[in-house]
Amino acid sequence: MTSETPAVTTPPVRKQRVMSGMRVTGRLHIGHYWGALSNWVQLQEEYECFFGAMDWHGMTTAYKSPKEIAPWTREMIAEFIAWGVDPERSTIFVQSHVPEHLELFMILANLTPMGWLERVNTWKDAIEEMKASDTYNLGRFAYPVLQAADILMYRAQKVPVGADQVAHLEISREIVRRFNHLYKAKLPEMNPLLTEIPLVPGLDGRKMSKSYNNSLFLTEDSEKDLKKKVNMMVTDPARVRREDVGEPTKCSVYGYHKLYSSQEDKEWVEAGCRSAGIGCGDCKGRLAQNIEKMSAGPREKKKELLNSAGQLDSIIAAGSDKARQEAQKTLGIIRSSMKW
Ligand code: TRP
Ligand code: SF4
Repeated sequence: MTSETPAVTTPPVRKQRVMSGMRVTGRLHIGHYWGALSNWVQLQEEYECFFGAMDWHGMTTAYKSPKEIAPWTREMIAEFIAWGVDPERSTIFVQSHVPEHLELFMILANLTPMGWLERVNTWKDAIEEMKASDTYNLGRFAYPVLQAADILMYRAQKVPVGADQVAHLEISREIVRRFNHLYKAKLPEMNPLLTEIPLVPGLDGRKMSKSYNNSLFLTEDSEKDLKKKVNMMVTDPARVRREDVGEPTKCSVYGYHKLYSSQEDKEWVEAGCRSAGIGCGDCKGRLAQNIEKMSAGPREKKKELLNSAGQLDSIIAAGSDKARQEAQKTLGIIRSSMKW
């Protein structure tokens, strides 16, 4: 062994960038984990990642109770870390702590034709709900432009999305193309990193949502709460009595087993359900145990973070500072392309 360093022949390949965020809407439920977080944790292995708690996006609907946003945001970041997003490797930030997002938003808003936003189909479907909840507002209408700014802010090449979000991302791509065209710039177009997102229904079989009161929370449900909630889950309606056979693929309890249980347990459910060898109570009991097994560690970790306020706040401050440096760099590029 010599202390000489060998000649470097190839420069290290720069990792591609991933950007993603989660809208701050309240306590995280298991859909947030299976729909995003679990994937983010994996992406850290391969990409340089920027993950944000998007509180401005939260404000588009929660603007009447802004005081709830800050505690929700802190809790969200604590969840990210508790489940394995690593602040040493990834940049974890709070959207509103990087005010450049709004500056870039306004730049992009000007070059986004109204027609592009009017075309968003999720918008058309939601108009009645928006009017009823007093959120038929300009901020919510402009949601996709802010999202485009979020991604462009870090010049990310990849955005993890489910198939249903690809159309949404297309607006971001169109906005960047328009920017590049107008100002002869070469900002990167973001590409969807298509991820398979499992369907995680609520306890009653409907979409899991705060307003339906049918959620399993990620860490806020205790072992006892988990048992109680899993017991409330709807099962295959064919199993009226204990001796009726059922079909696991028609049962959301089995859907959860697919996420949380070992191969062995899944086979136990399949065989036991189809032969009426097990009862739904047994099946649910095992599921609650398996969810608890996976959640106990993160639950403790999150509690620890929230209890040592200094630690969490300094992680948030450091991450947001790091994000901000990158954001200022991007804005520099943007302004000079615009000669403004
Ligand atoms: N729309 C995302 C959600 O509903 C949040 C979000 C905001 C986002 N900005 C983003 C996701 C940029 C990916 C990239 O949670
Ligand atoms: Fe559902 Fe399990 Fe009951 Fe089968 S045994 S119907 S999978 S809860």
